[in-house]
Amino acid sequence: MRDEIRFVLNGRIQRVAGCAGDITLLQWLREQAHLRGTKEGCAEGDCGACTVTMARPNGDGRLDYRPVNACILFLGMIDGAAIRTVEGLADPDGNLHPVQTAMIKADASQCGFCTPGFIMSFYAAWQNGNGLAPDDIDNTLAGNLCRCTGYRPIVAAAATLDCARNSDIGNSDMAHDGAMLEALKNMPDSAADLCLGDPPCRFLAPVTRISFAEAYAENSEAIIVGGATDVGLWVTKQHRKLGCMIWTGGVAGFEQIDDDGDMLRINPAVTHQQLLQKIADDAPEIAELLRRFGALQVRSSGTVCGNIANASPIGDLPPVLIAIGSKIELSTGNKSRRFDLENFFLDYAKQDRRAGEFVSAVLMPRGPHPYLRCYKISKRFDQDISAVMLAANIRVRDGVIDHVRLAFGGMAGIPKRAGTAEARLVGKPLDVEHFRDAAAALPDDFTPLSDMRGSAEYRMLSAQNLLIKYGLELVSGKTMRLAGDGLTTGLEGWE
Ligand SMILES: Cc1cc2nc3c(=O)[nH]c(=O)nc-3n(C[C@H](O)[C@H](O)[C@H](O)COP(=O)(O)OP(=O)(O)OC[C@H]3O[C@@H](n4cnc5c(N)ncnc54)[C@H](O)[C@@H]3O)c2cc1C
Ligand code: FES
Ligand code: FES
Repeated sequence: MRDEIRFVLNGRIQRVAGCAGDITLLQWLREQAHLRGTKEGCAEGDCGACTVTMARPNGDGRLDYRPVNACILFLGMIDGAAIRTVEGLADPDGNLHPVQTAMIKADASQCGFCTPGFIMSFYAAWQNGNGLAPDDIDNTLAGNLCRCTGYRPIVAAAATLDCARNSDIGNSDMAHDGAMLEALKNMPDSAADLCLGDPPCRFLAPVTRISFAEAYAENSEAIIVGGATDVGLWVTKQHRKLGCMIWTGGVAGFEQIDDDGDMLRINPAVTHQQLLQKIADDAPEIAELLRRFGALQVRSSGTVCGNIANASPIGDLPPVLIAIGSKIELSTGNKSRRFDLENFFLDYAKQDRRAGEFVSAVLMPRGPHPYLRCYKISKRFDQDISAVMLAANIRVRDGVIDHVRLAFGGMAGIPKRAGTAEARLVGKPLDVEHFRDAAAALPDDFTPLSDMRGSAEYRMLSAQNLLIKYGLELVSGKTMRLAGDGLTTGLEGWE
């Protein structure tokens, strides 16, 4: 067992021992490494002021640079990675990086406080060779909030950047980070399990599936950590003292999506951004939902399995995964069981998960899903959790609907199908009137709650309207969405 974490920071190898199990990367950077360019704004993954990049090999000989929120990332989660902060962008002669120069030339450093975060989001895009084309800039910046002046100069700065994948500067940073990561791998014990901190608060990072299962069996009360986009906030916002944590991200193979042609096996450490890239072509409806999941920083850390295991009634992925008939796999030791995901959610905060079991995979049918549509209602378009979510999927044979799945989030204590409304559609032709009829039945399926995201009445009316909209979209073959530049109804001539 190794008790020293090793990573590359701004091009130099760092070895850190004796740190607390629950220390965040931001705390360590600011308080111990005295790198105070990275700021703390919200401390909950929302504002992007703490954005740094985390690079790991992506399997095709290059490094994948993820923008991540350092405020909710536990230090143990950067083991074996290359981190860059705003202090690490200028070259050794002090010449600024092109993304820094672009911000200065466009007068885009307004308050200054959020600027390092914006620069690091640009840097991640620059290094990965995508995200700075005119249509991509909003997406790249959705996780970096400007509350003082506005985005115009910042977007203008991004628009001047030539995100050339083969730029000399990008390649030189990547070559250097890559060489340092190789050097880390060659250090003694580099393939050993990691344990940071002393009891009661320890951060365990097993490296094999067997040692993960053993660690969980020995510490059955432990908190499993995926991307920490929920668990991190327990520490930074709720000030909870956590006990033992076991991280999925260090386990070899847990970061993979296995594809057998029919089914995708999504292992415990697969992030939302990985899934989005995998399914972008086959399942654009799901990809667009994922694109609105938090923002890039959240999607680059948060995991699909974490979104299911966190037992939230408003998680975005359970409804869509249920609508396409996904399964869940739970494991303990070397035993596993699989069943329909919809049966995993029993009651508010109660799941069909036995002591010692963890979510070892989600099994998702591959696309295309021609009748699947996902509708997310939230207060902001990006970087927000839903108030109501509908994932609807039907099958039509010989002009008749013969199979229906209407899965809602935010309408009950769990993600749940609308059985009565579904029954109103089965055996009917594809006609908007039947969708209106099904919408009228939703009060028989749900008694939603009022909370800060929406009142019970608002939720019910939204759910009914979404179901009618689903019918209109299918019947018309057109799309009614708020997207990109504004309102696209595509429904001219429709009542
Ligand atoms: C700014 C921000 C925006 C967000 N936006 C959205 C959004 O748009 N939509 C949305 O649905 N959510 C959103 N979230 C919530 C969160 O990002 C997601 O729920 C995410 O998928 C959680 O995954 P994680 O890997 O980070 O989980 P973690 O925080 O690591 O864990 C969450 C819970 O799941 C458990 N867990 C994790 N992995 C496993 C496993 N393999 N087996 C058993 N238990 C496990 C943990 O013990 C914990 O109880 C947002 C969060 C933030 C901070
Ligand atoms: S401080 Fe706001 S996202 Fe980290
Ligand atoms: S430029 Fe920092 S909040 Fe607007």
